[in-house]
Amino acid sequence: MKVLGIVASHRRLGNTEILVKEALMGAEEQGAEVEIMRWTDYEILPCEGLATCLFGGTGCKLKDKDDHHYLLQRMYQCDGLIFGAPCYLLEVPAIVKRFIDRLFVLMSSPPPPSMKRKPAAIIIPYATRGWTSYALLQPNLMLLELGMAVIDRALIHIQGMSEATADQRALDRARKIGVEVVTAVKTGDTTYRGEPGICPVCHDRNIHILKDDETVECGLCGIRGKLSIEKGKIKVNFPEEQVKWHRFSVENIYRHFTYEIKPSKDYFVRTWPLLKEKRREYRGYLHIDREPVTSEGRG
Ligand SMILES: Cc1cc2nc3c(=O)[nH]c(=O)nc-3n(C[C@H](O)[C@H](O)[C@H](O)COP(=O)(O)O)c2cc1C
Repeated sequence: MKVLGIVASHRRLGNTEILVKEALMGAEEQGAEVEIMRWTDYEILPCEGLATCLFGGTGCKLKDKDDHHYLLQRMYQCDGLIFGAPCYLLEVPAIVKRFIDRLFVLMSSPPPPSMKRKPAAIIIPYATRGWTSYALLQPNLMLLELGMAVIDRALIHIQGMSEATADQRALDRARKIGVEVVTAVKTGDTTYRGEPGICPVCHDRNIHILKDDETVECGLCGIRGKLSIEKGKIKVNFPEEQVKWHRFSVENIYRHFTYEIKPSKDYFVRTWPLLKEKRREYRGYLHIDREPVTSEGRG
C-alpha cells in the first residue's frame, strides 16, 4: 500500500513539510510504503483557457511542456494521499490553484476508476486565528474533483518557521492523519473523521446566502438548503435530492458536461465569425504591450 505526501509550500523544512512528514511517519508505522513530493520543485504552467483539452480532441496543449500530467499520474498511483499546504492570505498558495485550473482536462479524460473514494486528508498550518476562512476550500475542491474521499482535514495553528517540530499537539494531530489514511485504505471505510462542518458532502462552513434571502448554498458543493436556528444553534437542512446532486457527483458531472460544456462548442462554432468581426474594434483600441520595467521601477 502506497501513501503519497504532497507538500505545496515553497519553504523547505517548513511547517507543511514537517507535518506531512509526521503524518507519513504515522502511515509508515501502520505498514504503508510512503513517498513524498514537493510541488514547488516542479513546473506547473498556468491554464491558457483555450479549452483545447475539451474540444480539440488532443488533450491538454501543455501536456508535454510542464510537469502537471506527471504530478497527476503520481496521485493516480497512490492508495492514499496526504496533502499539505500553508495558509496564505486566507487561502492556500497560488501553486495549488495553478494545478487545479489545469484539471479542466478531467472533463475529457476523467480520473481512472481507482480514484473513486480513494482516501485523502488535508493538513494546513496557519499562523493567525481567524485568518483561515478559505484555506480548506481549494484542496478540498481538488480532491473532490479527482473523485477522492476526504476523510480528515486539519488546520494546525503554528506561528513561526519550523515551529511544528516543537509542538507536540500539532505533531500528534498530523500523525493521527497518517494513521487514519492507512486505516481507511485497509478497511475501505472512508467515513469523514474530521471536525464536523455544515455541508454533509464537503464538511465546509462556507455557506452563501442567496439573493432571495431565504435559501443558503454550500459554496463548494453547490447544494441548497434552508437555514434555521434551533435552541440557539444554527442548522441547515439540505434535502436528500440536493445532497445527491452535489457538484462532484457522477450524475452532476455528466449533466454539467453534457448540457452546459459540450453545447458551448457548437455555439462557439456558430457565433465565432460574428465575434471575430466584432472584436476587431477592440484590437484597434489601446494596444496592450508589456512595458519595460527598469531596476528603478522594481524599487
Ligand atoms: C505570504 C504569506 C501569507 C500568509 N497568510 C496567512 C493567513 O492569511 N492566515 C494565517 O493564519 N497565516 C498566514 N501565513 C502564515 C503561514 O500560514 C504559517 O506561517 C505556516 O506555518 C507556514 O507554513 P510553511 O512553513 O510550510 O511555509 C502567511 C504566511 C505567508 C508567508
